[in-house]
Amino acid sequence: MPMKSSDRDIVRVINGETLTTPPIWMMRQAGRYLPEYKETRKQAGGFLDLCYNPELAVEVTLQPIRRFGFDAAILFSDILVIPDALGVGVRFEEGRGPIVETVDEERIDTLVSDSVINHLSPVLETVERLRECLPQETALLGFCGAPWTVATYMIAGHGTPDQGPARQFALNSPVAFQKLMDVLVEASSQYLIAQLDNGADAVQIFDSWASVLDEDQFEKWCVKPVAEIVKKIRAVRPEAKIIGFPKGVGAFYKGYAKITGVDMIGLDWTIPMSFAQELQTDSPIQGNLDPKRLIAGGSPLDQGIDAVLENLADGPLVFNLGHGITPETSIEHVQQMVTRVKSFSR
Ligand code: CP3
Repeated sequence: MPMKSSDRDIVRVINGETLTTPPIWMMRQAGRYLPEYKETRKQAGGFLDLCYNPELAVEVTLQPIRRFGFDAAILFSDILVIPDALGVGVRFEEGRGPIVETVDEERIDTLVSDSVINHLSPVLETVERLRECLPQETALLGFCGAPWTVATYMIAGHGTPDQGPARQFALNSPVAFQKLMDVLVEASSQYLIAQLDNGADAVQIFDSWASVLDEDQFEKWCVKPVAEIVKKIRAVRPEAKIIGFPKGVGAFYKGYAKITGVDMIGLDWTIPMSFAQELQTDSPIQGNLDPKRLIAGGSPLDQGIDAVLENLADGPLVFNLGHGITPETSIEHVQQMVTRVKSFSR
């Protein structure tokens, strides 16, 4: 008998349960800190070739599960496959990060989401294959970027320190920017629904650049589009489990779960524990170890882990980093973290 999705630990936490030992996974858990990832990445050719090769994408998704036994696997792909599927060119350059073709008002007017699912069918095949080969108890997470975060790359063409180009564009050309948001909301909703249909237990919406907006713009471009995606998904999949991760938004975390409708929120490491506890009374939380502590190892790592567990494990908690693991992190430190979290019980 296959295990029911609702019996997997992470889904239990998303449904509000407090477990004796919090389940653990790690954002960007498949990646360049693993030698076996670098090996597979070489075989694939380009980074997008890896994302669109189900056999190799399954392999790199499984690598961190084999090594560390995380409670969830996250689909190997990228948030920028959505612009790629919309026909807006994306490339990844060694050492430079993503380079995206830029869009202006005229180009935005021509964007349509019709072919997104067809273009992303290899990624959906990866999801389907993963559910077949993952251990029964391991949850499978799908994901997409939030429309705001994806749009910041489409406007600037690359990452920038404060995503100034997209902030300026949204203020100067709100009608065109709304059009861009609408296309991204539609494409992302279809994509997440398809991931759930192909076997994902839950999906996470990464709003990695949510922290750069003022209150008015945050409501318009972060809260509203994510709320629309949640509504579109729930219209066809009322039971869908959705994790929101508006990174770095401080006081704006309050009310985010309720207004957007997400089931659980991911917190970054800048959130005071007392505030995290308050948020945890509204929804389950995920997080929030500073990835720099994972690089440091030793007692800075142990202290950071203990602070999360002591303050947050008495409520529904999924242990995670406050943002993705970076390539310079040592594998031993990851093992140190997993061992310490798994040996905790409240
Ligand atoms: O293990 C996993 O978490 C699954 C795969 C995953 C990747 N990217 C693989 C990846 C996920 C969930 C993402 C999300 C993503 N991608 C985000 C949101 C989360 C975050 O970190 O804020 C963003 C903003 C992107 C866009 C992106 N992709 C950037 C800025 C970069 C360059 C930075 C870097 O780490 O190189 C990427 C490339 C990327 N995405 C890599 C991986 C493993 C490294 C590229 C390589 O292997 O050459």
